[in-house]
Amino acid sequence: MPINKIIITGGAGFIGSHIAENCFRKFKNAKIIIIDKFTYAGFISNLKNIAKDKRVKIIKSDICTLKNSKSIFSNTDLLIHAAAESHVDNSFGNSKIFSKTNIIGTHNIIELSRYYSVKKIIHISTDEVYGDILKGSFSENHSLNPTNPYSASKAAAEMIIKSYIKSFNLPVIIIRPNNIYGTRQYPEKLIPKSIFLLSNNKKVPLHGNGKNIRHFLAIQDFISALFLIIKKGKIQETYNVGSSNGYTNFDIVKKICNILNLNIKTSIQYVNDRPYNDLRYSINYSKINKLGWSQKRFIENDLKNLVKSYKL
Ligand SMILES: NC(=O)c1ccc[n+]([C@@H]2O[C@H](COP(=O)([O-])OP(=O)(O)OC[C@H]3O[C@@H](n4cnc5c(N)ncnc54)[C@H](O)[C@@H]3O)[C@@H](O)[C@H]2O)c1
Repeated sequence: MPINKIIITGGAGFIGSHIAENCFRKFKNAKIIIIDKFTYAGFISNLKNIAKDKRVKIIKSDICTLKNSKSIFSNTDLLIHAAAESHVDNSFGNSKIFSKTNIIGTHNIIELSRYYSVKKIIHISTDEVYGDILKGSFSENHSLNPTNPYSASKAAAEMIIKSYIKSFNLPVIIIRPNNIYGTRQYPEKLIPKSIFLLSNNKKVPLHGNGKNIRHFLAIQDFISALFLIIKKGKIQETYNVGSSNGYTNFDIVKKICNILNLNIKTSIQYVNDRPYNDLRYSINYSKINKLGWSQKRFIENDLKNLVKSYKL
């Protein structure tokens, strides 16, 4: 399928900006339209490598209330939907903005995609929609059991998408990745936050006992999975994309302390836990392995360079 026009929502954020840059390089003739509200998590500087090119158009807009949608959406070959309120901790405060952006905003984007017959839609969801699991892993056909307002809004968005698959035969694919790490991540998430605080002689607040387990996937591995799914993924299917290494939050902060030559004991401060803090997320990603994807990068090898890049 020739790809001449791509829409990326949330393209000024962490994952969206990597998607935009990589689409720009891979689809050399494609026009790239980025739609972003530029919330606290979106920055034009994240797009500095491509923003000025004539193939790229950046539209500052809320996905819930897009205007001039015909000129944006008509003749679109590929839409990648990455715009979201993405930070779990914030969702325990003002959770309504999560429902608005992640549910209503997604509904608006897929309704416009349906109306203007976008040829392929990729929706970026999250492993958090499954909720936690103490042993074993969730496969794609497992029921969704979200435990916080963020993951609930992402699960609700998926339900609307699934209804559009049945009702309108929408050509959409859902991706559910693990936690993703890489450059340009807003320093509210564990890795960049720890690097910033520790580099400035401040302690890292750790929820509860710091023993919650998360899996960390490199942005480069996520992008290679995304491109494989764009090329070979089955329309209307869901793909988990995961990483083999599970770490506690404590492990991650300890690794960063080691890189910065700091003593872990004096570098953390235990704080009250989240109202609900999933103990362990784990997904089975054999489906995307069978499509031909495998994890190439590991956080223990990448962390040193990541610390360097955030300290610059
Ligand atoms: N970061 C992770 O580890 C991770 C893991 C799994 C899934 N995801 C999912 O990937 C997607 C991207 O996550 P991220 O980490 O890049 O998030 P991010 O918070 O860094 O970026 C989100 C972007 O969306 C934009 N945005 C927010 N509300 C908007 C609105 N109403 N209209 C238009 N734009 C809006 C923001 O301005 C920002 O540029 C999200 O859907 C998230 O749920 C993230």
